[in-house]
Amino acid sequence: MGFNLLKGKRGIITGALDHNSIAWKVAENASAEGATFVLSNAPVAMRMGEINKLAEKTNSQIIPADATSTEDLEKLFSGATETLGGKIDFVLHSIGMSPNVRKQIPYTESNYDFFQKSLDVSAISLHKMLSAAMKLDAINDWGSVVALTYIAAQRTFPFYGDMADAKALLESITRSFGYHYGKKKNVRVNTISQSPTKTTAGSGIKGFEEFFGYAEKMSPLGNASAEACANYCITLFSDLTRMVTMQNLFHDGGYSMMGVSTDLMSK
Ligand SMILES: NC(=O)c1ccc[n+]([C@@H]2O[C@H](COP(=O)([O-])OP(=O)(O)OC[C@H]3O[C@@H](n4cnc5c(N)ncnc54)[C@H](O)[C@@H]3O)[C@@H](O)[C@H]2O)c1
Repeated sequence: MGFNLLKGKRGIITGALDHNSIAWKVAENASAEGATFVLSNAPVAMRMGEINKLAEKTNSQIIPADATSTEDLEKLFSGATETLGGKIDFVLHSIGMSPNVRKQIPYTESNYDFFQKSLDVSAISLHKMLSAAMKLDAINDWGSVVALTYIAAQRTFPFYGDMADAKALLESITRSFGYHYGKKKNVRVNTISQSPTKTTAGSGIKGFEEFFGYAEKMSPLGNASAEACANYCITLFSDLTRMVTMQNLFHDGGYSMMGVSTDLMSK
C-alpha cells in the first residue's frame, strides 16, 4: 500500500540486477508511490534479462548505460526526460563493483588497474552522472539524488578491500557536488549507508555470511533489509525531506552507534 509520496514524479533508477538488488525494491516501491521512471544498468548486466520482468511490472522503459561512460550517461538523462515527458525529480545511484574484491586479491596487494576501475565504477560514476544531469539541465529544482554506501568509508572492515576507499570517495563527491547542485538548482544529493544485505554485490564479498550474522547481533534493531532501505530511499525522493542534502545517512538498525552488544558479549 502506498501513500502517493512520489505522485507525478519522474525518476531514473540504476542498478537493478535481480530481485535481490536494493534498486529492484526501490523500483517496486517507487512505482507503488505513484512515480514513473526509467530503469538503467550496464549493458552487460542486461544479458541476464531479469530487468525486463521489473520493467514490465513497473511499466517502465529500460535505457542501458555503463556508469563509467559520460556519453552513455548523457544519453540516459536525455532519453529519460524524453521518455518520461519532462525533467527528472529523483535519481538512484545503486552501483558498485571492485575487480580486486571479486578476484579476492588482498587489499595490500591491490592491482592498480583494478583499483582505478573500482573507483570509476563505484564512485566517480556518481560525479559523471551529476555532471551529465547538470550539463543537460535534466533535473528539476528540488530534485533528489541518492547513492548507496557502506560504513567501511568511516571504519575499517578488512574484507571490504578497495571498496572502502571507493565508498569514501562516493561520500565525498556527494558533499562536494551536493554543494554546487544545491546552490544552482536546489537539487539535493545524499548517501544512504546501508546494513550488509544479501544481494549479488554483497554476497560477492569473502566472509559476508559470517559478517552478516555479526552485524545482526550488534545492531539493536538487527540488519536493515533491502525492502527497508527502499522505503528510506522513497522518503528522500519525496518532498518531505527537502532540506536534507550533502548527508551520509546511516540506515543500519543502530549498528553505526554501537560499541558492543550484550548479544555479542554472551557469544
Ligand atoms: N549488499 C550490501 O551489503 C550493501 C551494503 C551497503 C551498500 N551497498 C551498495 O548498494 C548498491 C547496490 O548494490 P546491491 O547490494 O543491490 O547489489 P547488486 O549486485 O544487485 O547491484 C549492483 C549493481 O551495480 C551494477 N553495475 C556494476 N557495474 C556497473 C557499471 N559499469 N555501470 C552501471 N551499472 C553497473 C550491477 O549491474 C548491479 O546491478 C551498491 O552501491 C552497493 O555497494 C550494498
